[in-house]
This record gives sequence, C-alpha cells and structure tokens, in this order.
Amino acid sequence: MVALDTTRFSFVSTLSTNFPSKSVHRTTKPPSLSVSCSKSSSTDSNGDDSKRLSQQSSWETKDSEGNDYLYRLGKEADNMNIAVGARSGIIDDLFAGNFLGRDSDIVFDYRQKVTRSFEYLQGDYYIAPLFMDKVVCHIVKNYIAHLLNIKVPLILGIWGGKGQGKSFQTELIFQAMGIEPVIMSAGELESERAGEPGKLIRERYRTASQVVQNQGKMSCLMINDIDAGLGRFGNTQMTVNNQIVVGTLMNLSDNPTRVSIGQDWRESDVTNRVPIICTGNDLSTIYAPLIRDGRMEKFFWQPNLEDIVNIVHRTYEKDGISRNEVISIVNTFPNQALDFYGALRSRTYDRSISKWIDDIGGVENLGRKLLKLKKDEKLPVFTPPEQTVEALFESGMASIRKASLYTA
Ligand SMILES: Nc1ncnc2c1ncn2[C@@H]1O[C@H](COP(=O)(O)OP(=O)(O)OP(=O)(O)O)[C@@H](O)[C@H]1O
Ligand SMILES: [Mg+2]
Repeated sequence: MVALDTTRFSFVSTLSTNFPSKSVHRTTKPPSLSVSCSKSSSTDSNGDDSKRLSQQSSWETKDSEGNDYLYRLGKEADNMNIAVGARSGIIDDLFAGNFLGRDSDIVFDYRQKVTRSFEYLQGDYYIAPLFMDKVVCHIVKNYIAHLLNIKVPLILGIWGGKGQGKSFQTELIFQAMGIEPVIMSAGELESERAGEPGKLIRERYRTASQVVQNQGKMSCLMINDIDAGLGRFGNTQMTVNNQIVVGTLMNLSDNPTRVSIGQDWRESDVTNRVPIICTGNDLSTIYAPLIRDGRMEKFFWQPNLEDIVNIVHRTYEKDGISRNEVISIVNTFPNQALDFYGALRSRTYDRSISKWIDDIGGVENLGRKLLKLKKDEKLPVFTPPEQTVEALFESGMASIRKASLYTA
C-alpha cells in the first residue's frame, strides 16, 4: 500500500516538471490566496476575535482581496477551485499534510463521473499500428509541447466512415497508456440554455487538467462524434450554441493554458495543457477556421485489409478460427465496417438463445424465470454456440439480406 502511494506521488512530481506554465506561475508570483485553518473555539474565547473575518465563518480564510473566502465560495456557485481543499498546509492537517503526507483530493468522487477508466475493455484486442502511432504521437507531443520548438495543434480530429474503430481504438490506446480521459459526446454540445455547452467544454477541459495535477494520471478531453453536434448539414442553421462551442474550441487551441469558467481571472485559471481528441464522420461540415492546421490535426482513418484481418482474427482467435478462415470471411463480405464482423459472432448466439428460451419453458415463462427466481432456484445452464466458419458465413449472409431490405 505504502509502496503504491510512493510510485503514484513520484509520478506526480515527474509530471509537474513537464508543465512549465504551472511552475513558471509558481515562481514568478506567489499565490494570491492565503488560507489558514481556524483556531479552536477556546482560542476565540480568549479574546482572539479581532482576527476573525466574520462571526459566521468558522474558517479564517481570506481571498486575495482580504474578503472572507467561505463567503466567496458560496457566492460563486460553480467554483472549480479545488486546490483550496486539497492542499496540505491550507486546510486542517488532520485531513491532509501530516497524516496523509500529501495533498488530499476532496472532489475525487465527483470527477469519477466524468472521467472514464476502461476496466470493461478486458481481453486481447488488436490496435492498428498507424492508428496507435497517430494518437500516441498527438498526446505525447502535447504533453511536451513546451520542449518542442514547433507549434503543436491542441486538437486531433479523427474522421472516417462509421463503425471503423475510431472511438473503440482510441479507448484501447487510453487503456494501454494508462490515460484517464474526460469524455464528452455530441449531445452535450447543444442545450436550451445558450452558452451552456461552451461552458461545459471549458469545465471538462479544466477537469482533465486537474486529473493530471491531483491524481498524477495523464488525461485528455475526448469529444465523440463532434460533427453530429457541430456540423452543418444542407441548410441547417448554425445555432448560438454552435457558434459558442466552435469559438470555445478555437480559443482553447489558441490559449491552452488559460481557461476561464466565467469568473474574473484568477491565478488558478492557469491550467495545464491537455490534448483534445475528437472523432467524427465528416469534419468538412465543421466551421473551417476551427479545423485549420494550426488548431486541429486531422487524421483520416480507414483500416486497410491487413488491419481488418488482424483485428477480426484477434477477436475470433479464441473460437479456434484460423487466419486463413478470417481472410476468406473478410473477402466474402468486403467493404464492411469493423462492427459488422463483430456482429457476425454475436449473431451466431441468437439461435442458441432461442433454444435456451425453449429449454426454460418458452416465452410465456420468461419473466418469471428471469426475474422472479426463488432463492435456491438456478437458471438452466446456457451453452455458448460453437463458432464455426460455416455458422459465421451463415450469419453474415443473414445480415446482408437484412441490410438489403433497408436499402431496397
Ligand atoms: N481494434 C478493434 N478490436 C476489436 N473490435 C473492434 C476494434 N475496433 C473496432 N471494433 C469493433 O467495431 C465497433 C465499432 O467501432 P467504433 O464504435 O470505434 O467505430 P467508430 O469509427 O467510432 O464509428 P462511428 O463513426 O459510428 O462513431 C466496436 O464497437 C467494436 O466492436
Ligand atoms: Mg465513434
């Protein structure tokens, strides 16, 4: 346990040296906020009352203007300044500093909701090398941007056909690199309240930067299907929110270390730079200045035959399907998205599931069997179907027949 903590914190210190903005800001100007823990009530009763800022506040904390900090925290409903609560020497030592030895993190639970860890991605997957290269290079370039004598675009826009593995492989890479990303999806880019999505992006960006600062993990902001939220199709109108979101992203890529969330500028508004990765099907529907080269690096992703065979082979391997058999499946169903081949395998389960339903007494008894099991009752065992090339071919044909109904 102790050993684990040590490695974690040593990582924090290595990382923080990589962020000049933070260290520069620390050496050039002292923090504007001075905070100290309140004296115990016995001291107060000894006539120390003159020091207290207000009778209501139990915390003798001043902000840079000498005002009661607790009052200010209350006034700013969306306060993001978690550093105050997490710093050793600032709040009570019982909760930080001497006891834990380091800064604690009081909003850890909150952040877990927007960040994502990838425990569900178990098993062995194949990541196409070109894809891996591009994403890893973008992330690393952004983390060491201050050491490079070039302009590094903050945003990587991965685009290409649907179901080609843009989101899935990016998540696999996050898992492999131990990155804890903050995720946004296109749905969050629109709101009935104008300005809300733009603010959300800035908040999520800062949250990602705080993951780096407080948890010592690498992080980034991932926006899935950005063109669905931002793109203009045909004669659709550009909404106020669209404009604000585009403006916010452009502003972030121009000033990655200075991110306001709608209050007056404070020292703590200087954030660490964190890379942004967007996926989308067609980036050309997005406002051109946002996707120009200095702001967004674009990467068109389409797996080639070898990538597809490798990816599909890795998922079928455990069923005993050989590489040559995979090649024949891919050749029989060409021009299909990656999720098609995954679906073939799931489809072969359908027949076994129908049989299993019959075994447990048919559809009429399904509800009782599935949901109202008695204590010592057990569901009949489900035997997964044996995967054969023939079964996969058959479910492929069935999928194609179904798809032709839609397009007919
Ligand atoms: N490397 C891989 N290994 C195994 N399966 C994969 C891999 N890449 C993609 N898949 C499968 O393909 C499916 C679709 O991939 P994904 O959702 O990433 O596509 P996408 O390019 O983001 O599509 P969209 O543009 O529609 O968002 C995944 O759910 C997964 O089942
Ligand atoms: Mg996707």
